[in-house]
Amino acid sequence: MSTPAQESGTKSRLISHFEERPIQDHGSGWSSLWDTGNSNLWDRGIPSPALVDIIENHQQDQDLFYPFTADGGRKRALVPGCGRGYDVVMLALHGFDAYGLEISQTAVAEAEKYASSELKEPTEHNFGSVGNLSERPGTVKFVEGDFFADGWESQCSDGEKFDLIYDYTFLCALHPSQRRDWATRMASLLEKGGLLVCLEFPMYKDPKLPGPPWGLNGVHWNLLSTGGDGLVTSDMEEAEREKLSEGQFTRKVYIKPERTYEMGKGTDMLSVYVRK
Ligand SMILES: C[S@@+](CC[C@H](N)C(=O)[O-])C[C@H]1O[C@@H](n2cnc3c(N)ncnc32)[C@H](O)[C@@H]1O
Repeated sequence: MSTPAQESGTKSRLISHFEERPIQDHGSGWSSLWDTGNSNLWDRGIPSPALVDIIENHQQDQDLFYPFTADGGRKRALVPGCGRGYDVVMLALHGFDAYGLEISQTAVAEAEKYASSELKEPTEHNFGSVGNLSERPGTVKFVEGDFFADGWESQCSDGEKFDLIYDYTFLCALHPSQRRDWATRMASLLEKGGLLVCLEFPMYKDPKLPGPPWGLNGVHWNLLSTGGDGLVTSDMEEAEREKLSEGQFTRKVYIKPERTYEMGKGTDMLSVYVRK
């Protein structure tokens, strides 16, 4: 997505693409960007270094990102709005059975192409300084569907709930009026005790400005911990946020990652929310 410098200049192509489009047509708007070869507007080309690091630093037995269940099965991870599937493949290479959801058929085809070569011969960018401790990779599956609609979950091993969901530039791609539904849907897709991992971006952008990407400073906390509607403004006092009713998640981790994409260096935050 656009850089702070690009955003301060002429209106970004993404903002122009969506500004006159009714919200119910935003899904087809994303598909048309894929179909016309415009995924370079957001595609970073590698899995998230911040996600790689937090997984590798907490992958021992009993730790937060241990990829196996108590009965020896594999934990199930979902990446909604996964794009070309970099994070889905990386999660599988770290032992999870990983699912990528995309509204665009073209994105699913691109992700399948990427995964088939990457799983045969994984690139170094999938690993950090610790490396993967699980012996064999988990599985990878890409599913075409709308995050907000029912049905696609049945294609992810019988519709069982997920143990981990990762969001990067999915929430910021949605219209702010969809944020409450994003949080409700996340809660319904996760097992109790399951993890919602968010690489929060863009944090430098005033939430009142138009998107995508829509500014998210304070939005995850508001939605997930306080049960708000996510329509925070940068001048909203913390005390005011706290007054809102309680959310369905507890925040367990909130760090500025040492490694992240160029675009979010110095401003990205990595949060891990636990489903209550
Ligand atoms: C900004 S892109 C980010 C893609 C990916 N996370 C990445 O980092 O490259 C947002 C993605 O969400 C997908 N998307 C948008 N609305 C969706 C929906 N309702 N359900 C599933 N995918 C959706 C788009 O097709 C697009 O690939």
